[in-house]
Order: sequence, then structure tokens, then C-alpha cells
Amino acid sequence: MNGKFIDLRSDTVTKPSTGMRKAMYEAEVGDDVYKEDPTVNELEEYVAGLLGKEAALFVPSGLMGNQISLNVHTSPGDEVICEADAHIFQYESGTPAAVSGIQLYPVRGENGIITPDKVEPLIRPTSAYYMPRTKVIEVENTHNRAGGTIYPIGIIKELRQLVDKHNLKFHLDGARLWNASVATGIAPKEYAAYFDSVSVCLSKGLGAPIGSVIAGTKDFITEAFRVRKAWGGGMRQVGIIAAAGLYAVKNNIERLAEDHEKAKDLAQFINGLDNFEIDPGLVQTNILIFKPLRKSVDEVLAQAKGKGLLLSVGTVGSLRAVTHMDAGWDEIEKAKQILSEIN
Ligand SMILES: Cc1ncc(COP(=O)(O)O)c(C=O)c1O
Repeated sequence: MNGKFIDLRSDTVTKPSTGMRKAMYEAEVGDDVYKEDPTVNELEEYVAGLLGKEAALFVPSGLMGNQISLNVHTSPGDEVICEADAHIFQYESGTPAAVSGIQLYPVRGENGIITPDKVEPLIRPTSAYYMPRTKVIEVENTHNRAGGTIYPIGIIKELRQLVDKHNLKFHLDGARLWNASVATGIAPKEYAAYFDSVSVCLSKGLGAPIGSVIAGTKDFITEAFRVRKAWGGGMRQVGIIAAAGLYAVKNNIERLAEDHEKAKDLAQFINGLDNFEIDPGLVQTNILIFKPLRKSVDEVLAQAKGKGLLLSVGTVGSLRAVTHMDAGWDEIEKAKQILSEIN
């Protein structure tokens, strides 16, 4: 809860639990720019293990995790293929162009999922010296703007074959990879195995206040470490924050199943209302995207807020609700009541 509000704007709104704060208080720390913070080192090793990668790096945000990864894989003038609603394209402030000098080539997928038949025609011929060079294919699992949809592992495998065929790199924005994994039973390392680099967030459904981790080969992480410092992301006694992340990955992954149940329950309820439109089949994890039928998005946002429910904006013309650990079943019931009163 955010004060008097039921806050379903995002799963980023959670506050650290008592257990998490205790872990932060007790964290052993050191200077992480010298790689001497034992808690950061433990977090990086732990997450590298979860993702089955050689090495990992703690970074301040998901944006920085994605952008460092793209920067390491590319040179100025290169191109990255991604889905048209990808976070890196929609919500990362134009950083690929502004900071790395690269361009994105967005392709419209189905519910956020891009398939090799759509991607392959976009890969630039290596002989075309007058074109940008395709360097990376990027996918997002789960896909935020599509409503938390899960990438089928079969499509990931096929995209990997394409990546190998054209000698590219494959980056996963796994901000909510944990949700995909809990929903499907496919281990994070099984998903991660197909990618050269993976970025995962600690501060979304897992409830940590700050932080993401990127993982890949030792060489990739050595270079990522250099870029993080160059971009002002080298932090000192940051174990105090990493401890929250470590607590999150050790305690809060399995419980995401409950957030998924809450989302599905809420979706079924909304589907039964005649003032909104939703496809409950697309609610695969903790994000709901739904359309108001009688009012504008802004009117619904204002009316819901007036009644104590915070929602956010989804894709054009739609609303978004995200379930998380700080909104329990009681809050979901109240949210249902409020939504039923909006007409
Ligand atoms: C899919 C996805 N990737 C990356 C990010 C960026 O994370 P941060 O807000 O920590 O920069 C988000 C944030 O919502 C996200 O949903």
C-alpha cells in the first residue's frame, strides 16, 4: 500500500520488508570500485549461478544493465533489432543513440514476441557497406508493454540459431525473467543459456529497493565493469544495497506465483465488467493491460485515484495494473470493488 492508496501502477513500488532491511543493516561492506565489497561479490556470484553464466555485475538500474550490455556488444553506427514495444526502444530515453551512438531497428511482434521469419529479413547483408551493421538481437522476457507475456522457449532457441547463423549477439532484457521462470517452471539458467548477455532486475517483483544484475562471459563482464565506471555507475560501500538484492533473490522468487494468481483473478473479474475490455488469456504473469470502453484512460485514472486505486497507462488507449507483494488479496478485492464502480 502507498499510504491510503492501493498502488497497482507497477511492481517497482514495493518497499523493503523488515527482513530485507535487517539484511541491509547487517551487510558486510567494502569498496566495490576495488571489487572489495563482500556482499556485492556474493550477490554477483549468486546471480551468475542462477543464470548459469561465468560472471555477473551489479548495476544501479535495469536501464543501465540493458544499455551497458548493448554498448559492450556494439560500436557507434551499429544496429540492434528489437520488438517495437521493447523497453529499450520505448522507455530508455533514447540512450542507445545518445550514449552509445547506435540505432534500434524495431519490428512489430505478436504480443511482444518476435519470430525469426520477421527478424531475418531485417538483418543487414555484411556486403552492404552503406548500411548500418546489425550486431544484436534483443528480446524482453516477460514483455512489459505487451502485458507480461512470456517468450516461448522454442522461439528463443530459433532466434539463437539465427544469431549464430549471422554471427550476432543475443541480449535478454530479463527485468522480469523471474516471473517467466516461476510461471513456466523453466529455470532462469535454462532461458539464459541461449543469450550472450542477460539483465535481471531486483527491484521489481522481488521487492528490493534498488538494483539490477547483468551476466555473461568473464570477458563481457570485464568490459561491462569498465563501462559502468565510465558512466558513473561505480559505487563504493554498495553492499548495503546489494544485501537487499541478495535477500530478494534468496527469498522472493517463488512467491511471485501468488502475484500471478492475483493478476489472473483480477483479470477474470475485469473481464466480467462491461466497462472494460481485457483478454484474460494474455495475463500470463503479473501485468494486466485493459481498455476502458466508456471513458478515456485519463478519466479512469482520475476516478480510480479518487476512490483510492492507482493504475498506470499501458499502450495507447489502455490502462495497466501490476500485482506485487505489497498489494495482498484484501487490496485486490478492494481494487475490484473500485473498478466495478467506474462506469
Ligand atoms: C522490461 C523492463 N526492462 C528494463 C526496465 C528498467 O528498469 P529500471 O527502472 O530499473 O531502470 C524496466 C522497468 O520497468 C522494465 O520493465
